[in-house]
Amino acid sequence: MTDTEKSVQDAYPPTPEFAQAANAGPELAAAAEADRLGFWADQAARLHWHEPFTEVLDWTDAPVAKWFVGGKLNVAYNCVDRHVLDGHGDQVAIHWEGEPGDSRDLTYNDLLAEVSRAANYFTELGLEAGDRVAIYMPMIPEAIISMLACARLGLTHSVVFAGYSPSALRSRVDDAEARLIVTTDGQWRRGKSAPLKEAVDEALYAHGDVPHSVEHVLIVRRTNVEVPWTEGRDAWWHETVAEASPEHTAEAFDSEHPLFILYTSGTTGKPKGIVHTTGGYLTQTSYTHHYVFDHKAGQDVYWCTADIGWVTGHSYIVYGPLSNRTTQVVYEGTPNSPNEHRHWEIVEKYGVTIYYTAPTLVRTFMKWGHAIPEAHDLSSIRLLGSVGEPINPQAWRWYRKYIGGDNVPIVDTWWQTETGAIMMSPLPGVTATKPGAAMGPLPGISAKVVDDDGNDIALGETEAVGYLVLDQPWPSMLRGIWGDLERYKATYWEKYAEQGWYFAGDGAKVDEDDAFWVLGRVDDVMNVSGHRISTSEVESALVGHHSVAEAAVVGASDEMTGQGIVAFVILKASAKGGSDGLVDELKAEVSRAISPIAKPREIHIVPELPKTRSGKIMRRLLRDVAEGRELGDTSTLVDPKVFEAIRSS
Ligand code: WT7
Repeated sequence: MTDTEKSVQDAYPPTPEFAQAANAGPELAAAAEADRLGFWADQAARLHWHEPFTEVLDWTDAPVAKWFVGGKLNVAYNCVDRHVLDGHGDQVAIHWEGEPGDSRDLTYNDLLAEVSRAANYFTELGLEAGDRVAIYMPMIPEAIISMLACARLGLTHSVVFAGYSPSALRSRVDDAEARLIVTTDGQWRRGKSAPLKEAVDEALYAHGDVPHSVEHVLIVRRTNVEVPWTEGRDAWWHETVAEASPEHTAEAFDSEHPLFILYTSGTTGKPKGIVHTTGGYLTQTSYTHHYVFDHKAGQDVYWCTADIGWVTGHSYIVYGPLSNRTTQVVYEGTPNSPNEHRHWEIVEKYGVTIYYTAPTLVRTFMKWGHAIPEAHDLSSIRLLGSVGEPINPQAWRWYRKYIGGDNVPIVDTWWQTETGAIMMSPLPGVTATKPGAAMGPLPGISAKVVDDDGNDIALGETEAVGYLVLDQPWPSMLRGIWGDLERYKATYWEKYAEQGWYFAGDGAKVDEDDAFWVLGRVDDVMNVSGHRISTSEVESALVGHHSVAEAAVVGASDEMTGQGIVAFVILKASAKGGSDGLVDELKAEVSRAISPIAKPREIHIVPELPKTRSGKIMRRLLRDVAEGRELGDTSTLVDPKVFEAIRSS
């Protein structure tokens, strides 16, 4: 029996003790089924509304939804002020661990003062509701404070992962027309300080005279490296924000006010600015964080290992947890800094009870060996979560056994930057979970697996793989792609336009027990260590190198990272013969142009690329080559001999 076959059979039911104390019970799904919109109205009541909404959903302008129409609220007030006013100001909001070993606790009182100071300073800079702010920072409290200060003022933030290159930063800043960039002098990475402010300056100047929208750069001191300085534009956080008043009154914004833009890879080279708004987003992140993680305010110590540069950090470090008055760990560094014990030392130090990470990290822990977690007392952990890619059953079992003491629920959460919050997951205390399956849509959410024409794929046809669609709007759904309504419609709504369904871009199947298995992307998007990278983005970085004439990139399955990037390049005539060291140079070029996370695992220099008669590159065949498989159908190939040359290179 293969691993997958076996996993279809064994399910892990909740223990009676867990079920009894769980936030979720069977009544949750029953309520959502009886009245879906009424159910969401009840969930919205988790928040404080300055003005109540008059309608739950307005879908008349589909596919652009309006949720909680007419309602007004302030996200930062909901995430901070309200907990202080309720008498929980002394509760720790953030146990922050710096990579070099420094640490800092921030209570909700502290958070309120810091967010207020930042909001006052942003106001002093002349920023107004609706303006965009780019945040390009490592995992330090000021990054979260900056996001909340934006939310407080109705400024739309665009967080750019601090591992992105200056040119990736520049294209995002330009697209959103950000007026302010918040950054740090440098960031710690495995004991070394990497410059960050310098990267901001490179982003802003390297394009010569091309004007940009940035009027202010605010810099938090972190690693004490020297920074280039532009008088009148640049300011230190400790000389400005830290000096501002800690008092600030939050004003309410419309439920549909844009909260943030987050760029993600699509099937073309240009990243998409995914737009999320206020009331629906906060409702669903709060709801899912409460039920999926079974979070109990004032008792749990929660740790989501994501970076705020990704949507997981937005929804499950900042907005969901803080709206639920969570005490959480935020860690700045890598899991093996200074050694492979780091995460488990942190779990022990703070008594972490809920731990949420990505399958790629679980597989890395497996590689390091179970002796490492076994050297620590991890008995505080009572729930584990997984996100970012399908988790293979073997990693699932290892995770449960060595991190979860073989007795805790695992929630495998399926969602996307676009969905804003978790859409499918087992409900701890309710669902009997199968290793590797996201199980099914949460109460209030509706999903199905269909064929090309939108027909249901019959239950139990485990071999029949279909497309995952969301057939009902949901509160935290994206409201569009920044500045590109047509692309929004074409990307997500065109394939099933007749039915009005959202096309997620993932392949999936539903088994005989009605459990959903998400299998991975069906478009030209790769998933490397849970990071979404488009093939064409890497291809354009490669052809940006003077030696490359043409490039084709595929994601090949990779034991550690889920997928690995494999590139096939044809060199220009002028470059031929001189390929010594070129592969390394090309890898470095991709790192430089996009980010080290997009660096190809392999680059093959080939004489030709396989193309169909209409001139399309046959990626499927390249994937076969990259994964060392027998070739699939080559009948439409122009010159099948091309393959011999590719294979032998
Ligand atoms: C893509 C979205 C969701 C936050 C992190 C990634 C894949 C995500 C799962 C899961 C199988 C998953 C999908 C999805 N994915 N979670 N539990 N099981 N696949 O967000 O960068 O927007 O990527 O990640 O392919 O479409 P993202």
